[in-house]
Amino acid sequence: MPDISSYPKCPLGVRSHYLHQRCLFCIAAKGRPSQTWDSGLTELTGKSALPALLQCTSRRLLGLRSATMLLLHRAMVSGLRQAFRLRSTPSRLCIQACSTNDSFQPQRPSLTFSGDNSGTGGWRVMGTLLGLGAMLAYHDHRCRAAQESPRIYTKEEVSSHTSPETGIWVTLGYEVFDVTEFVGLHPGGPSKLMLAAGGPLEPFWALYAVHNQSHVHELLAQYKIGELNPEDKVPSTLETSDPYADDPIRHPALKVNSQRPFNAEPPPELLTENYITPNPIFFTRNHLPVPNLDPDTYRLHVVGNPGSKSLSLSLDDLYKFPKHEITVTLQCAGNRRSEMTQVKEVKGLEWRTGAISTARWAGARLCDVLAQAGHKLCETEAHVCFEGLDSDPTGTTYGASIPLARAMDPEAEVLLAYEMNGQPLPRDHGFPVRVVVPGVVGARHVKWLGRVSVEPEESYSHWQRRDYKGFSPSVDWDTVDFDSAPSIQELPVQSAITEPQDGETVQSGEVTIKGYAWSGGGRAVIRVDVSLDGGLTWQAAELDGEEQCPRKAWAWRLWQLQAIVPAGQKELNIVCKAVDDSYNVQPDTVAPIWNLRGVLSNAWHRVHVHVAS
Ligand code: MTE
Repeated sequence: MPDISSYPKCPLGVRSHYLHQRCLFCIAAKGRPSQTWDSGLTELTGKSALPALLQCTSRRLLGLRSATMLLLHRAMVSGLRQAFRLRSTPSRLCIQACSTNDSFQPQRPSLTFSGDNSGTGGWRVMGTLLGLGAMLAYHDHRCRAAQESPRIYTKEEVSSHTSPETGIWVTLGYEVFDVTEFVGLHPGGPSKLMLAAGGPLEPFWALYAVHNQSHVHELLAQYKIGELNPEDKVPSTLETSDPYADDPIRHPALKVNSQRPFNAEPPPELLTENYITPNPIFFTRNHLPVPNLDPDTYRLHVVGNPGSKSLSLSLDDLYKFPKHEITVTLQCAGNRRSEMTQVKEVKGLEWRTGAISTARWAGARLCDVLAQAGHKLCETEAHVCFEGLDSDPTGTTYGASIPLARAMDPEAEVLLAYEMNGQPLPRDHGFPVRVVVPGVVGARHVKWLGRVSVEPEESYSHWQRRDYKGFSPSVDWDTVDFDSAPSIQELPVQSAITEPQDGETVQSGEVTIKGYAWSGGGRAVIRVDVSLDGGLTWQAAELDGEEQCPRKAWAWRLWQLQAIVPAGQKELNIVCKAVDDSYNVQPDTVAPIWNLRGVLSNAWHRVHVHVAS
């Protein structure tokens, strides 16, 4: 965090910080005529303070209310005397709200205010203060009016306010807030606050506990415009004919790719916020309605080896096996499918970069459970088949299989997991028990596990035999022979950029690039290369997150790079590619790996951004 005490003061004596450690609200005066404060600077010359303030404020999406409140508050608390002592009018007055970049380094302009040396400066400042005072009084009047007889809004009305044009509204409890003016000031960046636009803040504040502080509530209170209609309660009666009616309630931040069955991914800016993905925003890939299983009557059926007894395990029986805990990244074979669609149409959901997440899983090791059912490694080929308890109207259940050799290998750490990040599995992620197969495609991590058996052949499930397989770009739906290709098990090396996002405008000077990298089969990520010029030149990113064990690197590495934006550059073609410890590297383009199901999409990830001039 920059040292705020080193920041210059504005004519009113305000230091350039505001509320939150990542929010730098800079109000400064500068003297040298041609000096630029920073690229985002609004320069105003020879104008009185108030119009300057207003103009800057609106330009920077800075709330007028916030600006005036802050200025007046600061001026009253500590700066009034100082303000009056000012002998001259600033020749330039600059306002900047910098909320997203910790690395922001203010330059130090000269604080010798030049201009006319007459007494008019003091009068201007006084005029400014009076004007601001009037506005504050008006603002307070509005706030009080809103408290005393609040306007009532329906949820529907709130949900239609999601853009600067319509106004950006959010709710907390029954209170409604118009935060349009605050969005540009949000310490976590505007895009994160926009995720809550038109709806409740609670699900986001639950993820980011930093909001549960009195000054945040006080700040929000300034933007209150009314209350929600108390009769406007959500839970509607269940539509019994709808097989999805009993699906769980999901986090509003998830980007939904299909509602029924539910398929959704976290937005990129949240995906790499934490090494461990919080349960509510872990990507969800369902093919069928979510079963509602009773943990007390739940039984896992494990078919015994000939000559051994089959097992019918309750949750308590599973808890008796040694508890094993590991951090594992799960990735859907369709992650980044949307990039394949851009080459040629494919069949499948349009996943962007978020069909991947990481959790700490705990449960019994599959090898221990199989051993209790009398299974051993055998010479001949064998597969462990899993059946889920989710089914379609014909009673067909989800199923998949993995080779017995992997299942029986204690080092492969295949789990029958009952905990995710220290909690019982959420319903969407397989409550009460799911399979976790480290290093292997998500499709084999069968949720709502009902049955386990060892078979001479792979599962006959559609998802094992007629889906999740890769083909040559020349194969189409008329020529495809699903039996000709093996089912996907270990996934290839993958990486993607989560910040900045495609089409975004970044500041000149320096840009922070963030993302994730992961490889299948326990192969560790050894390097992530990043290019700002479409792949002509490269820089190695810094790898964050937990160290990876050789051959057991089950979880991703998050990475970031602080890069200098070459002077005069108007746009950047940012590219990333990861290298794993087998020196596998991602292919450079999508076309040569295109396939009709849009799986295994792991070409260099590219984002194109504009540079603010
Ligand atoms: N298990 C069952 N029973 N039903 C499913 O639809 N989807 C699979 C797998 N296990 C699925 C399942 C697929 S394709 C993926 S990618 C992962 O679950 C997704 O797990 P998640 O929803 O917990 O992220």
